[in-house]
Amino acid sequence: MCGIVAATARREVSAILLEGLRRLEYRGYDSAGLALIDSDHNLLLHKRQGKVAELEQAQAMDPKYGCVGIAHTRWATHGAPSAANAHPHISGERVAVVHNGIIENNEALRAELQAAGYEFLSGTDTEVIVHLLHQQLQSSQSLLQAMQTVVERLEGAYALAAIDVAHPDEVIATREGSPLVIGVGIGENFLASDALALRQVTDRFIYLEEGDLVRMTASSLQIYDANGNRIERTISQLAAHEEATGLGDYEHYMLKEIYEQPRALAATVPATGAHDIADEAFGTGAAAVFDRVQAVQIVACGTSFHAGMVARYWLEELAGIPCAVEVASEFRYRKRVQHPGTLLVTVSQSGETADTLAALRNATEAEFISSLVISNVDHSSLVRESDLVFLTRAGAEIGVASTKAFTTQLVAFLMLTLVLGRRRNLSPEAASAMVSALHKLPDYVEQTLKLDPLIKDMASAFILRHHALFLGRGIQYPIALEGALKLKEISYIHAEAYPAGELKHGPLALVDADMPVVAVAPGDELMEKLKSNIEEVRSRGAELYVFADENAGFLDDPRVHVLRMPHCPELLKPIVYTVALQLLAYHVAVQKGTDVDKPRNLAKSVTVE
Ligand code: AGP
Repeated sequence: MCGIVAATARREVSAILLEGLRRLEYRGYDSAGLALIDSDHNLLLHKRQGKVAELEQAQAMDPKYGCVGIAHTRWATHGAPSAANAHPHISGERVAVVHNGIIENNEALRAELQAAGYEFLSGTDTEVIVHLLHQQLQSSQSLLQAMQTVVERLEGAYALAAIDVAHPDEVIATREGSPLVIGVGIGENFLASDALALRQVTDRFIYLEEGDLVRMTASSLQIYDANGNRIERTISQLAAHEEATGLGDYEHYMLKEIYEQPRALAATVPATGAHDIADEAFGTGAAAVFDRVQAVQIVACGTSFHAGMVARYWLEELAGIPCAVEVASEFRYRKRVQHPGTLLVTVSQSGETADTLAALRNATEAEFISSLVISNVDHSSLVRESDLVFLTRAGAEIGVASTKAFTTQLVAFLMLTLVLGRRRNLSPEAASAMVSALHKLPDYVEQTLKLDPLIKDMASAFILRHHALFLGRGIQYPIALEGALKLKEISYIHAEAYPAGELKHGPLALVDADMPVVAVAPGDELMEKLKSNIEEVRSRGAELYVFADENAGFLDDPRVHVLRMPHCPELLKPIVYTVALQLLAYHVAVQKGTDVDKPRNLAKSVTVE
């Protein structure tokens, strides 16, 4: 989604702003822009539809320089992708604003400002903010005070940064519902919607809280909380290895991230105890909470939701705990009834997904005994607002298609199953077997990665297809869903997943020679049933791609292509099979020539509803 970068320094900052935008490209966007205040206190602007590279080209052709500036990548919500709708928006040739989020009362504000004589040049909700700020500056003592008054009129979610030629040394910023982080430099300060954008200039960050308002110059920082009180926020120092984001020798981030899984999975299992997992892996106070848990409610979106669906099988079968799973956008708006003693578990790679965050925020103490988040991003909003936290150690995930975040989420859920299960019917021997399986997981994933050339060959059969059907049974059904999601989001092939037993209840009507069918068939107790479903498909003339255990006894024939997967413990199969499906989607997308890491219309972090 949209990205913000801002800087105040004693040096020229246009290159820093552009590099920051480039680092935010992975979030998804359709236009970009920057505004600078030059040494003569003029407001200079570049805006382009399309990629940051086009903005860089505009800057190369017509350089604009300044020591204070704001920049933005926009993912269209209100108003089509265009240069006119790109941020920054300006008012009165003096104020410029960049904005992430949505201003819900923008229509009323627009009408009021138009009546006051303001002319609107864009179709965005953001433009009301810059005109309000300009209007307020006529009577305010300072840019800070003007912004303070403006935000009182805004309804919705926002992260904002503004500059004004009459206050040429400062950047003013505020957040409510969208993340914002200050990068603390020496004799210079920066601001961004993601620390990743500023790793080139600093390793010291202040993560702003909801309602914070900031005045930032090259040499000073003033932060005010939601009540207008001046406060100090803690500076966090990132270690040198954190957030390393280069592509290395890989062609795409997605491939790099698929291949990083053995390391990410190993890092996510705490080193402590060869036979057990400590409750404290989920935060201090976790043991007391876990003692009271009688049911689990999981809430998430997209791939993280699929992780929750897999977890339901583990929590109910192995830990004997009732578990419900729901997509956050539905959960948040529904009247709900919870079991007594329910633990709310949110799952989010980014920790900033708007619906998941809203679900956490509207969950009440009467419904849940506590909240736990499984996230990949420390300091994210979900992490800061949850009672208990499990941080997956996947490292920065740049590709829009989630890969290593998903498999590490599954590891987190296996550990949650273990700590809750040993309070119920999970024997110490079974718990110890789970831990030892977890320690072997990176090896099985390595073995699966070695199948990459075979999967690449298989992928070529999909590139001229418009549809694909994924089948799985039991715990592999959510894995089939995840395989279909990966394929559709990066290759734009319409892919659907069904529990194999549902075939005859409708989807079989779609099956013919043009519909490739992918079956996730690890060889568990549902194998024989799945084999009959596969026959049903084969007899309708479809080409079948079966991902099966090497010992499952599947035979190739001209229309049945079997990928023999390494034999591994049942428990690990959802994770191991996912890796093969990720590779399938990746190779189909590469062979189709799509933008694998930044698929059209999608954003990495969905911070608006
Ligand atoms: C995954 O490939 C997707 N791009 C998407 O479904 C994602 O998982 C979803 O938006 C949730 O994101 P989160 O994990 O950051 O909350």
